[in-house]
Amino acid sequence: MNVDDCKRAAAHYAASLVKPGMVVGLGTGSTAAFMIERLGERVAEGLDILAIPTSEESAALARAAGIKITTFAEHSVVDITIDGADEVERKTLHLIKGLGAALLREKIVAQASRRFVVIVDATKPVNQLGERVPVPVEVVPFGYEATAARLEAMGAKVICPRRKLTGELLTTDNGNRILDCSFGPIEDVQALAARLDGIVGVVEHGLFPNMATDVLVATEREVEQWTP
Ligand code: A5P
Repeated sequence: MNVDDCKRAAAHYAASLVKPGMVVGLGTGSTAAFMIERLGERVAEGLDILAIPTSEESAALARAAGIKITTFAEHSVVDITIDGADEVERKTLHLIKGLGAALLREKIVAQASRRFVVIVDATKPVNQLGERVPVPVEVVPFGYEATAARLEAMGAKVICPRRKLTGELLTTDNGNRILDCSFGPIEDVQALAARLDGIVGVVEHGLFPNMATDVLVATEREVEQWTP
C-alpha cells in the first residue's frame, strides 16, 4: 500500500462511523478529501446527513459529492468531525494541524464537536510535536511583520509560506496570513499554546492539545484506533 492507499483506508474507516441524521464536520486536506468522497458515495446510497466544512475547498468537494451543507446558525453542535493532521504525538494525541491553512475553521469545528476523529497515515505520528513540521500560526495581515518578530523572539524560525503557482503570500479563507513557526521538538505543548494565545495579532495557531477523541492511523496492514 502506498501513502494514498493508507490515507484512503483511514478515511473510509472514519466515514463508516457516520450515522444517519448526524451533523458532520468535514476536515481539510488530502486525507479528508478521501473521507468526503466516501461520504458522498454513502449519501448517494441514501445516507441522510448535514455537513459543516472547515474550508472553502472542502465545501466545494462536499457540494460536488452531493453532501448537504449546513451552518452554525442552524446547528451549534456537531456530532462528529473527521479531519487529517500534520503530526500526532503518540503518548498524548496532541496534534499539529493547519499546514493546509485551514486551522482556524478546523479548530472552531473540532471544538464544537462531540467526537473529533483524526485520520492519518503512518508518517504522521511522532514522539514529540514539532519534530518534523512547523506550527502554522494564523495572524491578521496588519502588522504581520511585527507579529512575526514577536514569534521569532519566542525562539521560532518563521517563514511566510507563498502560493506555489503565483508566489503570492498565502491568505486564509478568513483573509488572514499564515506564519509557519519552527520551534523544534516541543517540550510543553500546552504552555506553548498558551503563549501563542497571548500574542496580539495571532488569530489562532495549529497546536491542538487534548482535542482528538480518536486517532485512526493507517499502516500497511491495518487501521489502528488510538484513544486518549
Ligand atoms: C489543513 O489545514 C490541515 O490541518 C490538514 O488537516 C493537514 O495539513 C493534513 O493534511 P493531509 O491530509 O493533506 O496530510
